[in-house]
Amino acid sequence: MEDTPSVEEKAAITVGLDTWHTVALPALGIRSIEMADGPHGLRQQAEGDGDNLGLGNSVPATCFPPATGLASSWNADLVERIGRALGDECRVAGIDVLLGPGVNIKRSPLCGRNFEYFSEDPLLSGRLGAGWVHGIQSRGVGASVKHFAANNQETARMTVSADVDEATLRELYLPAFEHIVKTEKPRTVMCSYNRINGIPAAEHHWLLTDVLRAEWGFDGAVVSDWGAVEHRALALAAGTDLEMPGPQRSSVDDVVAAVSSEELAESVLDTTVARLAALAAHRATPLASFDADAHHDLARDAAAESIVLLRNEGGILPLDPSRPVAVIGEFARTPRYQGAGSSQVVPTRLDNALDAIREIAPTEFAAGGPEAVALAERSETVILFVGLPPEDESEGYDRTHLNLPADQLELIAAVAAANPRTIVVLSNGGVVTLEPWHDSVPAIVEGWLLGQAGGGAMAQLLFGLRDPRGRLAESIPFRLQDTPAFLNFPGANDHVLYGERIFVGYRYYETVGVPVRYPFGHGLSYTTFDYADLLVTRASARLTVTNTGTRPGREVVQAYVSAPDAARPRRELRGFATLDLAPGESRTVEVPLDARSFSKWDDAGWVEIAGEHRVEIGRSSHDIALDGVVGIRGPRRKLLTLDSRMSDFLANPVIGPILRAASAGAMDGGTNLLDMVKSVPLSRLARFPGVGDRLKSLRLLLPVANNRVIHFAASFFRSLFTSRKSRLRPT
Ligand code: BGC
Repeated sequence: MEDTPSVEEKAAITVGLDTWHTVALPALGIRSIEMADGPHGLRQQAEGDGDNLGLGNSVPATCFPPATGLASSWNADLVERIGRALGDECRVAGIDVLLGPGVNIKRSPLCGRNFEYFSEDPLLSGRLGAGWVHGIQSRGVGASVKHFAANNQETARMTVSADVDEATLRELYLPAFEHIVKTEKPRTVMCSYNRINGIPAAEHHWLLTDVLRAEWGFDGAVVSDWGAVEHRALALAAGTDLEMPGPQRSSVDDVVAAVSSEELAESVLDTTVARLAALAAHRATPLASFDADAHHDLARDAAAESIVLLRNEGGILPLDPSRPVAVIGEFARTPRYQGAGSSQVVPTRLDNALDAIREIAPTEFAAGGPEAVALAERSETVILFVGLPPEDESEGYDRTHLNLPADQLELIAAVAAANPRTIVVLSNGGVVTLEPWHDSVPAIVEGWLLGQAGGGAMAQLLFGLRDPRGRLAESIPFRLQDTPAFLNFPGANDHVLYGERIFVGYRYYETVGVPVRYPFGHGLSYTTFDYADLLVTRASARLTVTNTGTRPGREVVQAYVSAPDAARPRRELRGFATLDLAPGESRTVEVPLDARSFSKWDDAGWVEIAGEHRVEIGRSSHDIALDGVVGIRGPRRKLLTLDSRMSDFLANPVIGPILRAASAGAMDGGTNLLDMVKSVPLSRLARFPGVGDRLKSLRLLLPVANNRVIHFAASFFRSLFTSRKSRLRPT
């Protein structure tokens, strides 16, 4: 290259050109690229409408079901197909990177943006997010996995610090990102607005460099969430390659000043430039047009897989198309099909359930009020559409309760009283409580937000033209007070304590025994399934599933693991598989498990938990059909040091049994002495009289413990416990 770019020129490309474009650097052959919002549709704003708040007009694009619905499909192939379709729409629009998927965990059902996220479970979120990335990147268009990390609320989203311990991050909030990064190599990751333990995500070196790059091998570019950068040079040093949006003259100046004062090594800037060059070097093959009809059909298929049949007393569903029905509720005519904020797209067309039902069965309609009650009274069956109004949930703020609006509750009460055959169809992005009306209706269909073709899918499902396949990707609690983050959401004074740790969603409900209205994983079908012949190993759970009903159906086989550790969640989802079965058909399915399935994060990293793990096959997180046992030997011996705890010595396969034998019966006033000192590092025990002077032999002991020579160990611990009174008592 003839011109070597200046620091100023290089710094300039680390900040956006405008709301959606990057800056070009011709001297290095780096072009400007264009980004646009996803994740459930393309929001490309017309020239001059670059407000990035979802308020401007955008070009019409297929509105697929938002993640909250899509997650209930538990179908990564379906999500991948949507990714491919989105990729093609981006190729037509000339978009290089679509900003999605959003894989943050639903820590509280109140989060205003839960409609954009998949699940309360990291494994499910990661698998579905990976499908999305695989699909779009297979079309040459880049993904931006967001919002990294611990962005689980909208309240004070730009300033709040998520105060969360490392094990919780590693086990719950990071794995979806980790899985996608490791398996799909997303071109970009978007860092979040919030702080993590006081440090802004954009400036979080541990998060963006140590974990994301060094540990997981991420080789793409980190893009800031729009407006997340406070100090450009600090963010760049931490690993934020691109600040969006631009222009920000002060940010460029900040980087230039940091390089000239040597606070920022120029080599760091060069590395960022190289990453941005690699990002800009990808160029999807342009496409003249996309097949809007085919994408609409895909959106309808996806909507159908997103619907969850929660309740179906007496098999009232599916309805008979030859019988007349009453359709009640404005949502039937004016669907709520996506959430508000940056992900809001302008659909290519919009179906509604009322029109679709009219095409199937003789239909009468009333929007609400006394007219609706009169219609309910004189009708054989009512389909009642209710839900959350758009203003109740959005990017930018959280909900404060889980209730449907009062007028909707009144409508349910009045219609259910007038007609016992009332089927409630819900439209909501975040979970709503089904109380107090749940028992007053025989059927409840959770319709989430279903995208532009949801109306047709819903009608087909109600009349049995499609089988309900959805399973809940989040628990439906009875009350807000029952939810695990209740006391710690959304925090105060710009801090939110993740005090419930990994006990989020079903991990909490199942462990503590808090009843929920519908557990994670629940969903009915029009057919029934039987499970048999479970065979578990540490590599998989294999079983035979039979469709025992009279209709074809899709079963989602859920494999949970229950670890032999009282401090762990009661059970955790470790794998799942979906299979379609014709009536009477049986098939064997294998759900893969891996080392993580039996592991936890401790200070030193991932360790397998020793002992007998129960592998449970469930119809939900609460309804276990079969179980088997897998024995895990546990981690290879940890290297013992003077600072190792007595519990580490106990866990050592050589020392443990000796220590246990040597201390057997060592009691002090009814207290087992070994239990008393379990959490004490050996070096601290040395501070007790009579122990310190044995430190020399203790030093000798370490190579012994680490090398399997056992007699030294035996004599040391025997002597430690035989004269226990003098040695283990503080003076
Ligand atoms: C949102 C992101 C979005 C970006 C660009 C931000 O407010 O948090 O999800 O991609 O805006 O619109």
